[in-house]
Amino acid sequence: MAFDGSSIIVVAISCVFLVNLTLSLVLAKSPCQFPAIFNFGDSNSDTGGLSAAFGQAPPPNGMSYFGHPAGRYCDGRLVIDFLAESLGLPYLSAFLDSLGTNFTHGANFATAGSTIRPQNTTLHQSGFSPISLNVQFYEFHDFHVRSQIVRKRGGVYETILPKEEDFSSALYTFDIGQNDLTSGYFLNMSVDEVKAYVPDVLNQFHTIIKDIYDVGGRYFWLHNTGPVGCLPYVMERIPVLAGQIDRYGCASPFNEVAQFFNQGLKKTVQQLRKDLPHAAITYVDVYSVKYSLISQGRNHGFNQPLRTCCGHGGKYNYNKNLGCGGKVHKQGKDVLVAAPCQDPSTHVNWDGVHFTEAANRYIFKRIVDGSFSDPPRPLNMACYRN
Ligand SMILES: *[C@@H]1O[C@H](CO)[C@@H](O)[C@H](O)[C@H]1NC(C)=O
Ligand SMILES: *[C@@H]1O[C@H](CO)[C@@H](O)[C@H](O)[C@H]1NC(C)=O
Ligand SMILES: *[C@@H]1O[C@H](CO)[C@@H](O)[C@H](O)[C@H]1NC(C)=O
Repeated sequence: MAFDGSSIIVVAISCVFLVNLTLSLVLAKSPCQFPAIFNFGDSNSDTGGLSAAFGQAPPPNGMSYFGHPAGRYCDGRLVIDFLAESLGLPYLSAFLDSLGTNFTHGANFATAGSTIRPQNTTLHQSGFSPISLNVQFYEFHDFHVRSQIVRKRGGVYETILPKEEDFSSALYTFDIGQNDLTSGYFLNMSVDEVKAYVPDVLNQFHTIIKDIYDVGGRYFWLHNTGPVGCLPYVMERIPVLAGQIDRYGCASPFNEVAQFFNQGLKKTVQQLRKDLPHAAITYVDVYSVKYSLISQGRNHGFNQPLRTCCGHGGKYNYNKNLGCGGKVHKQGKDVLVAAPCQDPSTHVNWDGVHFTEAANRYIFKRIVDGSFSDPPRPLNMACYRN
């Protein structure tokens, strides 16, 4: 075999590369390169799942950023959109959305109204999605297996589906649990009855993370659940005693259960770290960020943090029978009564249930650098175990 100049160059380049690699490992870890995000959750991170299967979120959803409804219950982008953007990835397509979707950089299994535990009520009866976390896992599993079969057909399929190796280097994100708590309240359960089933909810959460690990997932970014006692759809539907309202106007009993859930979630994460030795799991305290946004909102340009931007009537500009975009039939015409406010960017709450894009951007900015994470590592370092 002839020994030519180009081999020497290749060897030289390889050495430089190796030295660089070693140096960077010694000096500082380089940011993770996540090729894809697979997201699981509820409306806090639904980018079109419920809309694809059960009807589009109506206008004025999407008005501030997309200019039209975009499968999100928000005037614009969600925290998951900002996370994807900051990792240099496109916004996630919903797995259930069969039109114009491109899954090269991940898929979103979240649907609005999803719970961790399967519910015994229908969407029509209770408003909770039948696509609970176990169903989201079935979908993910099917996607994982069949995307690789379909990808082998080549052509366009190669350009819209992820590579096999991307599944183990992807970031798996979760924001789910809020509806497991509210589903109990809406069935007239007491705060103690809801607390009593939280361990079962967390147990099922543990199972799903392990299932994803077993098929190759390694990097997990888990949001805890927010202060649901500060949201009009809960405060309006389940009044509490005057003494149970905190100084920012939130209903304390529901926030206490959310924090009880979060303490349990933190313990579940500690257990998962023991059970799944090759996983890097980041627990993100979104609760604290959302609560500080509501309690200190005025310092950040947000007025009236408990009142919705888009709704109709009542103390919180919220009516459960006439949601954002709701119309009434008057004198032969449909009249929009639940209209959006002039400037959604000055509101925390969009529609009584969900946060505005401005609030979501604020939340994203606070969590992206790891200051609310355990361990305290930034998003782009979420592939490291220590
Ligand atoms: C639904 O019913 C089954 C059977 O009674 C029960 O085991 C399960 O906990 C129920 N789920 C919820 C969310 O209440
Ligand atoms: C899907 O997205 C990827 C990455 O952004 C891009 O390279 C590819 O061309 C897209 N496929 C189609 C069919 O648009
Ligand atoms: C809960 O209680 C309210 C008021 O008593 C009642 O109208 C409603 O039907 C109850 N809901 C359920 C699911 O039992």
